Amino acid sequence: MAARYLFLGVVGAGLAVASSVTCSGSAPVSCHNTTSFDTCCLEYPGGHMVQTQFWDTNPPVGPSDSWTIHGLWPDHCDGTFDSSCDSSRAYTNITQILQAASPDTLSFMQTHWKPNSGTDESFWEHEWGKHGTCMTTLRPSCYSGYQPTQEAVDFFDRTVALFQGLPSYSWLADAGIVPSTTATYTLSAIQAALTGKFGFAVTINCNSGELNELWYHYNVQGSVQSGTFKPTSPVGAGSTCPSSGIKYLPKSGSTTPTSTSKPSTSSPTSSPTGTPGGNVPSGSGYLNAVTGGSQKGCIISAGTWYTSGTCATFTATPSGSGFTLSSSKGKCAIASGALTCSSSVSSATVFSYDGTHVTYSGSATFYSTAVPSGSTQATVYTASNSVSLQLTWQAL
Ligand SMILES: *[C@@H]1O[C@H](CO)[C@@H](O)[C@H](O)[C@H]1NC(C)=O
Ligand SMILES: *[C@@H]1O[C@H](CO)[C@@H](O)[C@H](O)[C@H]1NC(C)=O
Repeated sequence: MAARYLFLGVVGAGLAVASSVTCSGSAPVSCHNTTSFDTCCLEYPGGHMVQTQFWDTNPPVGPSDSWTIHGLWPDHCDGTFDSSCDSSRAYTNITQILQAASPDTLSFMQTHWKPNSGTDESFWEHEWGKHGTCMTTLRPSCYSGYQPTQEAVDFFDRTVALFQGLPSYSWLADAGIVPSTTATYTLSAIQAALTGKFGFAVTINCNSGELNELWYHYNVQGSVQSGTFKPTSPVGAGSTCPSSGIKYLPKSGSTTPTSTSKPSTSSPTSSPTGTPGGNVPSGSGYLNAVTGGSQKGCIISAGTWYTSGTCATFTATPSGSGFTLSSSKGKCAIASGALTCSSSVSSATVFSYDGTHVTYSGSATFYSTAVPSGSTQATVYTASNSVSLQLTWQAL
């Protein structure tokens, strides 16, 4: 009792960061345990996690070249679910909680976790209260030195990080499936495009024959806040789309990418633009790297990612609806799938901007093999790899 009291005293003084219980690497994967297990390290009974995304066109919600977050749901292993599990933790100050504890997550949510009616805050309160409070690994008793609301921060951080690793817009665009007022797509083409990237089937939902929601399914080994999410097959209700004639409408009539009605041969003829009205970077600035919802380091002059040392100053120059970048080393381009700035780059790549992030080919997500540390630099790739990151522009 004395030791516990002392520990809480230290937390109160702001000297210790409370953390959730550490789960061993041999914790069972949710929905796959064969004996009982500690529910701070096994998400139970809601072990079938679903990261749900919206495509809302009427009214349009979020960037025109990105799906938006609906939520992260702890379904039971058979697809049924509990809801609103702890009214005492149904917080009504999500914005303030995140402003104080995770401002990068909050700013990402302000562009990518949007309701189609009502306020951001009320949508976030709904998702947390209905689904987040049912996650057993996020219970206050699973933290040492628990500080009120920290489990909600973990819920929003984790949901945003998962979403950032699921760039549905570019996954579909890579298969020629782009928003259009005229084209229609088959369910099998959409499923093939997404399964090819995610590794498992995705639940694809329509409203009146219009593509409007995707569900990505996971089990989790360890806790929601620090465990490993493992893609898995859907359970429960199947896709609600018709098998053909599916519409994927643009979010705004003015930004319709050109397309044909044959998904297998179509490709957009121009890059989708960012958020209408968003200011494209121009002049001098830093390219900050954000991973797992937090800023970690920045891009240096060769175009590589570095987490210790001084950021390089880049020059952004508007070009068409996007912009080009250069550093002291030369022009920047995506060359052989990697960000490179060098005197040998003859033609700078035109990037887009979603109002917060640098985007390339419709995606705000870049990748590396690992988060760099010490004097290591990481190459920044456009193709999926172990670590996802976003690049934000900080004007100087
Ligand atoms: C899995 O673990 C939970 C929580 O400890 C337990 O209630 C459940 O019975 C376990 N499942 C099996 C098949 O043992
Ligand atoms: C949010 O509300 C909870 C109580 O519901 C309170 O404990 C917490 O301090 C508040 N957080 C902020 C940042 O206002």
